[in-house]
Amino acid sequence: HDIAALARALPKAELHLHIEGTLEPELAFELADRHGVTLAYPDVAALRAAYDFDSLQSFLDLYYAGADVLRDEADFYALTRAYLERAHADNVRHVEIFFDPQTHTARGVSLPTMLAGMRRALLEAEARDGISFRLILSFLRHLSEADAIATLELARPFLHRIDGIGLDSSERDHPPSKFQRVFAYCRELGLPVVAHAGEEGPPDYIREALDLLNVSRIDHGVRCAEDPALMARLAREQTPLTVCPLSNLKLRVVDDLREHNLARLLDAGLKVTINSDDPAYFGGYVNDNYVACIEALKLSAGQVVRLAKNSIEASWLDVDAQARLL
Ligand code: ADE
Ligand code: ZN
Repeated sequence: HDIAALARALPKAELHLHIEGTLEPELAFELADRHGVTLAYPDVAALRAAYDFDSLQSFLDLYYAGADVLRDEADFYALTRAYLERAHADNVRHVEIFFDPQTHTARGVSLPTMLAGMRRALLEAEARDGISFRLILSFLRHLSEADAIATLELARPFLHRIDGIGLDSSERDHPPSKFQRVFAYCRELGLPVVAHAGEEGPPDYIREALDLLNVSRIDHGVRCAEDPALMARLAREQTPLTVCPLSNLKLRVVDDLREHNLARLLDAGLKVTINSDDPAYFGGYVNDNYVACIEALKLSAGQVVRLAKNSIEASWLDVDAQARLL
């Protein structure tokens, strides 16, 4: 209906998107063929059928296995280009993309290889479709802080091509405090930092991300609702939350989208945004996430406009570039 049409038509920014999570099964098989790799599933339908998760970890196991087909510059280009075509179709005007270098360096793929492929697609989309971009290097929190520090050292010669730092992967038992030193080092280098927190992990992990890591946004953050004082702080400080509704549904953070607290957080004045996280795995790109929320949560036109505006205001674009999109 017309609120869904409004959501599709509004200019939007996507701020929580893992490039490895945009690998559609069709492209996974194409790249596997190209490299002579055998996937654990016989065909596209069988792979897609395996995308039936009961937790963050059950997804991550498949996500890291899928990334094995990404081997050279052309693969990272094809992956990023395919995502940007979907984003453009959804009227996404600005993207801030996570990539997980440790997933690839562990397999012998170099950081310059990943960066070259992603940037070739990003620069093309910027020229062709006017999509602006930032790249966020994300540390894997199930690995050690020493591994994150080594990754940052590896990235030092390329920091002019890296716009910020993130923290993702298995949240439980890997609190933000584990990465306090490497995040301080990143901030000394002038990099803005964000972290996944309060997806599966407790509200205290959100507090740690704010107080120990000095993040400028919280990725997910939906479990803040369990802590009224924290919720009030997030509203007061206008810390953006990059919420991913279909991800939360697929990973059983919520059992039914009608129970999702996105509208409640928005109405409480928090700077909530809608994002797709890992769209190839969770059944939808940005507009699919908007439409699913409009239907499940009966969002009003005003709420939809607020969400799209928030995405632009929560971005790392300067105020003039933001103003051109608002
Ligand atoms: N890596 C990719 N998607 C993720 C998510 N939703 N949470 C944590 N790590 C991730
Ligand atoms: Zn994520």
